[in-house]
Amino acid sequence: MLRSHTCGELRLSDVTKTVTLCGWVQTGRDLGGLTFVDLRDRYGVTQLSFNMDTDAAMCEKGRQLGREFVVQAKGIVVERSNKNKTIPTGEIEIVVNELVILNKAITPPFTIEDQTNGGDELRMKYRYLDLRRQSVRKNLELRHRLAIETRNYLDLQHFLEVETPVLIKSTPEGARDFVVPSRMNQGQFYALPQSPQTFKQLLMVSGFDRYYQIVKCFRDEDLRADRQPEFTQIDCEMSFVEQEDILNTFEGLINHLFKTVKGIEIPPMQRMTYADAMTYYGNDKPDTRFEMRFVELNALVKGQNFKVFDEAELVVAICAKGAADYTRKQLDELTDFVKRPQIGATGLVYARYAADGSLKSSVDKFYNEAELSKWANACAAQSGDLILILAGQADKTRKAMSELRLEMGTRLGLRNKNVFSCLWVLDFPLLEWNEGDTNLLASLAGRWIAKHHPFTAPKPEDIALLDTNPGAVRANAYDMVINGVEVGGGSIRIYNKNLQAKMFNTLGFSNEEAQKQFGFLMNAFEFGAPPHGGIAFGFDRLCSLFGGADSIRDFIAFPKNNAGRDMMIESPSEISEEQLHELKLVIRADTPKASE
Ligand code: AMO
Repeated sequence: MLRSHTCGELRLSDVTKTVTLCGWVQTGRDLGGLTFVDLRDRYGVTQLSFNMDTDAAMCEKGRQLGREFVVQAKGIVVERSNKNKTIPTGEIEIVVNELVILNKAITPPFTIEDQTNGGDELRMKYRYLDLRRQSVRKNLELRHRLAIETRNYLDLQHFLEVETPVLIKSTPEGARDFVVPSRMNQGQFYALPQSPQTFKQLLMVSGFDRYYQIVKCFRDEDLRADRQPEFTQIDCEMSFVEQEDILNTFEGLINHLFKTVKGIEIPPMQRMTYADAMTYYGNDKPDTRFEMRFVELNALVKGQNFKVFDEAELVVAICAKGAADYTRKQLDELTDFVKRPQIGATGLVYARYAADGSLKSSVDKFYNEAELSKWANACAAQSGDLILILAGQADKTRKAMSELRLEMGTRLGLRNKNVFSCLWVLDFPLLEWNEGDTNLLASLAGRWIAKHHPFTAPKPEDIALLDTNPGAVRANAYDMVINGVEVGGGSIRIYNKNLQAKMFNTLGFSNEEAQKQFGFLMNAFEFGAPPHGGIAFGFDRLCSLFGGADSIRDFIAFPKNNAGRDMMIESPSEISEEQLHELKLVIRADTPKASE
């Protein structure tokens, strides 16, 4: 080893020891007769000291060190006269008597400190330097710990980690596939897996019984803070189980992770049906750190000549506790918030239940105090509270109110990142009507699509509805939601060939198309498929949640930006004429370049 210790471990008890450290020069301070250098490695920072009076030549060498030089320093541990209580090594320093510059460095494009001066794009371009920063490294350490504890838990529960292929064939799970041309099979393409769904089901047919894999998945979809084109799942499947067994096993996993990684005991998870989540929170992944449930006011507000309410399919309220003293300006801000095109409400009605017990609303012309007091009762409002009301077409209004509820939760400080509220959302619909989601192929517009994926089992009591009212069929499907983030989702699977074929028919596949795309799975079901089900957690999302961050990017060593680009290696990129030729791919002359 080139070093005897790391830069994070020396303490007062090591004073008088001769040590050798290696690391990067974080900063240097030249105080004339004395020079100090902070040496950094993965484990921490240790101060090197050079004294002009006792060793002028060495001090001169110390002065020559530039930021991010890689050095090996040998010396004696001494107690510092000027102690730094903010770091664990702050009571000692190394008086250097041998110094080797292992490598010089040019000036980095941004400071390698927690509070860096580098913008997002620059840090992505020099990600290897960004990763030197303690704050980013800590996130990857957390990720590592979560992966280890996941493996520990699942291993104890007899899950086997099995790798599944990365070059596969399309599985329609919602998003578009990334495809890879095959040189040896010209004109044909592999697809990168959106998830190992069909393989894990086949492993159940093979009798593996309990499978897991911490696995890369790929989806060509619009990106957001919690979405990357390649991301990692903790993917799991079990045989001979019912939904309840899966919920208990994976509630156990999450409890284990909170306990071992964060030292937190979380209360038993709440459960909510999809229908209730939509009715009370307007969202299938409600943030349950706070209540502020929706209250429908239709029955109380109609027939008073207020057109907006009279014509609305839904009039819905939330009660913001203690917000009655919101100023005109704050209320205007909220109105502007709901009117933004992404939210899409036409306006906001409010009623204040003032501290003196009086009730006043923005629609006093139409509703007297007695009527307002009925609203307040329905909302369980008390004096000091503010009632916020939206009206319009039901789905749109619920969606807008869901955003307003989250905004109010944030404004009222109810979304503390150190508080964790875990929830199972159950009984999802099996299917949803696709009007033309831009994340899906255009050919899927105007069709029923699987809400989770086509292998999800309908609730047995709802199977008959497949023919008469497909939209009403509920699935044995569940999501785990933590603090309003969908961290995982899964289902009990179909394991009967005929039911699987019927499902494909409902999704608009002819028998031939279904056989062509999924014959391998349906045929496997004829060779003794056990009842099975599973779940996959978004591992990056779990990491960012445990790390108290909104974006998953900083929990991924080498992430892509919002345009799906890796700024460091400059990917995606064009390939050579020769490669195109070998693959028999032709780029049409009129194809615009990505940069155009
Ligand atoms: P699903 O599509 O719900 O289920 O994905 C499981 C979980 O993966 C995470 N996730 C993502 N994370 C980051 N970036 C993305 N682009 C992204 N997409 C999804 C979410 C999500 O809950 N095969 C099924 C699982 C099963 O049925 O067992 C599946 O993939 O946290």
